[in-house]
Parts: sequence; C-alpha cells; structure tokens
Amino acid sequence: MKQPFAHSMMPQASHDELARQIFATSLRMHIEDEVMAGDELLYEKKVKPAMALANGAALQNYKDIRKHMEREPYYQMWSSLVKTGKEMLWDSVGESVERQLPELIARSKPAKPLGSLTLDPALPVPRYHAACDIHWMPGAYHREITKDDVYAGALYDRGSYYVVAAIMGKAGNNLPDKTHTARGAFHYLDQHHPNFRPKRILDLGCAIGSSTVPYTDKFPDAEVHGIDVGAPLLRYGHARAEAMGKRVHFSQQNAERTNFPDGYFDLVVSHAMAHETSSKAIRNLLKESYRLLAPGGLSYHTERKFFYGLSDYEAYLNDWDTFYENEPFKGTLRECDPRDLMREAGFASSEIFFFGTNRAGGFFEPGHPQAFGSIFGARKV
Ligand SMILES: C[S@@+](CC[C@H](N)C(=O)[O-])C[C@H]1O[C@@H](n2cnc3c(N)ncnc32)[C@H](O)[C@@H]1O
Repeated sequence: MKQPFAHSMMPQASHDELARQIFATSLRMHIEDEVMAGDELLYEKKVKPAMALANGAALQNYKDIRKHMEREPYYQMWSSLVKTGKEMLWDSVGESVERQLPELIARSKPAKPLGSLTLDPALPVPRYHAACDIHWMPGAYHREITKDDVYAGALYDRGSYYVVAAIMGKAGNNLPDKTHTARGAFHYLDQHHPNFRPKRILDLGCAIGSSTVPYTDKFPDAEVHGIDVGAPLLRYGHARAEAMGKRVHFSQQNAERTNFPDGYFDLVVSHAMAHETSSKAIRNLLKESYRLLAPGGLSYHTERKFFYGLSDYEAYLNDWDTFYENEPFKGTLRECDPRDLMREAGFASSEIFFFGTNRAGGFFEPGHPQAFGSIFGARKV
C-alpha cells in the first residue's frame, strides 16, 4: 500500500515497524470488507425477522438493532475485532514515534518561522476530551509525556493516514499519499462561491493543521489561523507547516470562546471536529463562529454522514462508534439537523445550507446513498 506523505516532520518507520503498520491496516481492511458483510447477513437473516416478530416492524429503529445484535456471538466477534484492530494500529505507529521522539522534538523548533505558535498552558482541556481517549488514540490529543512534547501530533499524522485507509477497506490501498479533510469544502467553495477571496481564515479544531495548511495554497494572500486545545498537536502542526514552507498561525484556544475580536474573519471552518465535542460545546462554538465572522463572511463544518435519510441498518452501523470507539457525542450530533443548530447560533434561515458530499465533488441531499460525508454552514448577512 502507499505510504503517508513524507514531509520532514513525519515519523519514519523501520522495516519491522512498517510491516506491523501495514499488517494492522490490512487486518482492519479485511474486517471492513469481509467480516462486516457477515454482520449484515446476520441482521437480514436472523435479527431483523426476530425483531419483526417481537416488536412489529413499525417499532424498529437503529437503536433497537444494536440492542438485539449485541446478543449475537458473530456481532460480538466482529465488534471486538474492530476495536482490537484499531488499538493495534495506534500501537504499531506509536512504536515509531516513541523511538524518534527526541529527534522530532528537536526538529519542532524552527529557527526563523514563517508562521507562529502561541500556547496557553493554563487553558483547561474540555471534559469531552479529558474523559476518554477519543477513538482509542493513546493519550488522546492533549496528554503530554515529556517537555515540549509532540507525541500526540506525530501519532495523529502517521496514524490517521492508516486509520482512514483501514476504514475504506480494500479501497484504502489506493488512498493518495497526500490527503486532507478540507477537500470536500474546496469543492463546495469552487461550485458555490467561485469568486470568494477571504482575507482571514480560521480553522477550528485544526489538530496538526492537515485541514488548515491546504487553505494557504487555496488562498495564498489570506492570513490563515488554526486553533486547537491540544498543545502537543499544535507544536507538531506548527513544525509540520514550517517544514512544508507554509505560513499558518497556530494558537492553543478553546473554539467555544476564543480571544479574536468580533468580525475578525471572513471564513470560519471546522473539519471532522464537531462530532468530537458535546451538545453544549457545539452550540457554543457555532455562536462563537457567528461572532467572529465579518458581515458577508462564510462559515461551514465538514463531517461524515448524518443519520438523516440512512436506512436503520446503516444508522446502527454508523452509531457503533458512539458506544465502542470512545466517540460519545457522535450519535447525538448525527441524529440532529445541523440547520437547527445554525439557526440557534444566529444565522439567517435563508443563508443556511446542508449537503451530503462525496470525494468526487458531488453534492446531494443529506443521507443520499452516494454521499460519503456532509457539509453544513451559512453566510452571515
Ligand atoms: C478529529 S480532529 C480533526 C482535526 C483536523 N481538523 C483534521 O481534519 O485533521 C478534531 C480536533 O478538534 C479539536 N477540538 C475538539 N474540541 C475543541 C475545542 N472546543 N476547541 C478547540 N479544539 C477542539 C481536538 O483537539 C482535535 O484535534
């Protein structure tokens, strides 16, 4: 399989480490493609008919499906394999990062940076991050194991490449070496706002800047900022952007309440962040985005699919992460209609949009079978 894009901050793998990383990814691909097919068969042939007999079809929803499936040995095997496979993946990448940590820390302090890094050691980590290691990433995004630590950032950079490849099953073998979560949003901008030229851009929950850096290429004249709560991510992200010759201003801030002035930005975005917050936090950060936008500015958020329009079986499968992947808010977010959240945050109904998206730049009704992800947002009038 192809390997992650090798800029000079990327932790490298020895021969044996690479073998373990590819094995762990391939195991997860096999589970996605082959073992998961058995789960659907189990549902169609056994669980669905049994549920219909017990409850009557009208009473079924995706939450009932989980309760019934959990009693089945095949489901239990599939479910524990997914979790073990994910833990193996992080562990296999963690080995490479631990071995190179001192060098990575030394390399993370560029002498003449183009951009900037502002940390706030007093910033509290929100409970929705401190309470569990999100998606089983050891230490989550914020934990520090040594001085000037970049461990979480390096783990996320190399590890998330394999995690995404694994989720795609066999198709993950063709994952390009350079991927970023802002791609769907760029299709949206190209198709819906081709003449939009923001002067200041803010990426909320930027992690290591993999969604932020592409904005410096898309809008080379803009001032690009990324904020996150995790210091080890930001140290690594700053060094990574510098290694690529990109000017980004990273700061450690909570997106629910930032220190930027009112109306400072023309574009406020987040990528794959909303589902890792909480019911209260998402409302706060949407309100904060509204405050930060100049009139005429645009805000959007990209995510995987919402449950909107999915079959009960698909919704049950997508909801697995809520219970077993340490992503406790995922289901609650995907159950809601994000247009309501945008209205609550102050955006005018007429300006709000919500689409299902795919990698090729298609836009669909949310929940459409061809949609892989989603984008919601609004312009501030
Ligand atoms: C799944 S990562 C996505 C990172 C990046 N946008 C990307 O596409 O690769 C979600 C990030 O959101 C950050 N985050 C979550 N809640 C936050 C908050 N309230 N303020 C700032 N960052 C937050 C987490 O620390 C994490 O780095």
